[in-house]
Amino acid sequence: MVSIDKKIKSRSATVGVVGLGYVGLPLAVAFSEAGFKVLGFDVQQKRVDLVNQGKSYIADVSDDSLSDVVTRKLLEATTDQSRLKEVDAICICVPTPLTKTKDPDLSYIINESKEIAKYLRRGQLIVLESTTYPGTTRHVVLPILESSKLRDGVDFYLAYSPERVDPGSKKHSIRNTPKIVSGMTSQSTEMVKLLYSQIAETVVAVSCPEVAEMTKIFENIFRSVNIALVNELAQLCQNMGISVWQVIDAASTKTFGYMPFYPGPGVGGHCIPLDPYYLASKARELDFHTRFIELAAEINENMPSHVVSRIMEALNTRGKSLNGAKVLVLGVAYKKDMEDIRESPSLKLVQLISDRGAKVSYNDPYMPKIQLSHCSLTSVALTKGNLSAADCVVIATDHSCYNMDEVTAYSKLVFDTRGVTKGLMGDNIVRLGE
Ligand SMILES: NC(=O)c1ccc[n+]([C@@H]2O[C@H](COP(=O)([O-])OP(=O)(O)OC[C@H]3O[C@@H](n4cnc5c(N)ncnc54)[C@H](O)[C@@H]3O)[C@@H](O)[C@H]2O)c1
Repeated sequence: MVSIDKKIKSRSATVGVVGLGYVGLPLAVAFSEAGFKVLGFDVQQKRVDLVNQGKSYIADVSDDSLSDVVTRKLLEATTDQSRLKEVDAICICVPTPLTKTKDPDLSYIINESKEIAKYLRRGQLIVLESTTYPGTTRHVVLPILESSKLRDGVDFYLAYSPERVDPGSKKHSIRNTPKIVSGMTSQSTEMVKLLYSQIAETVVAVSCPEVAEMTKIFENIFRSVNIALVNELAQLCQNMGISVWQVIDAASTKTFGYMPFYPGPGVGGHCIPLDPYYLASKARELDFHTRFIELAAEINENMPSHVVSRIMEALNTRGKSLNGAKVLVLGVAYKKDMEDIRESPSLKLVQLISDRGAKVSYNDPYMPKIQLSHCSLTSVALTKGNLSAADCVVIATDHSCYNMDEVTAYSKLVFDTRGVTKGLMGDNIVRLGE
């Protein structure tokens, strides 16, 4: 077997990153900053052009860091998959969405594996990073790569290593987040460990790709289930006249055995709303029903409707109906201080409020325009006039730039889904979970 370990150690190996999105672009920059030559692949010409101009479209990658590695000729992007033969290691970071019936859609992984198989050469290390159900590396990627007539463990190395980025976080980076790896063979494990130890302080090798695949999905299900639990508790607390926010604060004083999760309008992003279904669907093939996972998804998916019911009640109490009311929604991204609206519950909220006949507008400094089912909306300015003109202002995403003192001072009614007004008093403030 041609070994690329010397090339990795001397950082003369070329790393290919396929899929230059939220996961792939930061990874490509991390390898180039470590001194590797990186070739980034994407099917979107626009993204490739932007990368080659040093212009970032992902919040976690600054223009400065991108243009620095591009100018130093350490990072180049291309749509030309035949250039896969130029690279020594390939990290696959393509999307893993769901179909309309919420089943895993592996078409991106399958299509890319076919491309790699066309150009596969001896000694290459292929690492799948996309989140997926256990068995994908072995039963989906491996047979496609071996259709090239080259053999895993003899001619090339195949491994799985899940991405664990925390989008928007200043604290957690590729460098300080332990990286889980596993190869199909012990040599592949050694090779993938060596590669990632060039950019991550801690690399944790596990016994097989299935353990690594399950670990990533379990981490996201853990979040989904705990968020669902606190979302359910929020609804019960409201019925019992208890503040869920005070309960969480009090429980957080426990120094062991408890970790805070917070209620909200639902879950969003590419991971938590999707990944649990990957496992649930795979489990059904074994006649196993993942009840916890599906119940959590159901509770989280129902949160936008629950919030709308609460807004209706709050308006009714003030002699108004949602139909015909002016509602201003603050924040449409799924997470604070981010421009990502994938699966965003705030978007669902805007849609539901609009469907019930309200005149809905929104503000989001990160998203100038959004598309609803029947129209598009443009973000309005967050002015005293716009706040006071609304019958209800809904805090859907808690962007740090929102000044809650001003929002609550000028609004007739504030519905807070994130608990950001919890230190504030006022008859015009209604909170989820209270
Ligand atoms: N976003 C996150 O926070 C996050 C965190 C951990 C893991 N993940 C997982 O990582 C994977 C990628 O997620 P993402 O958020 O980066 O997705 P993304 O949509 O931001 O990026 C994927 C990129 O892949 C490109 N692409 C699709 N098919 C391609 C192909 N055949 N060749 C080259 N490029 C191709 C797309 O054009 C896009 O630019 C998913 O499996 C996701 O579940 C995401």
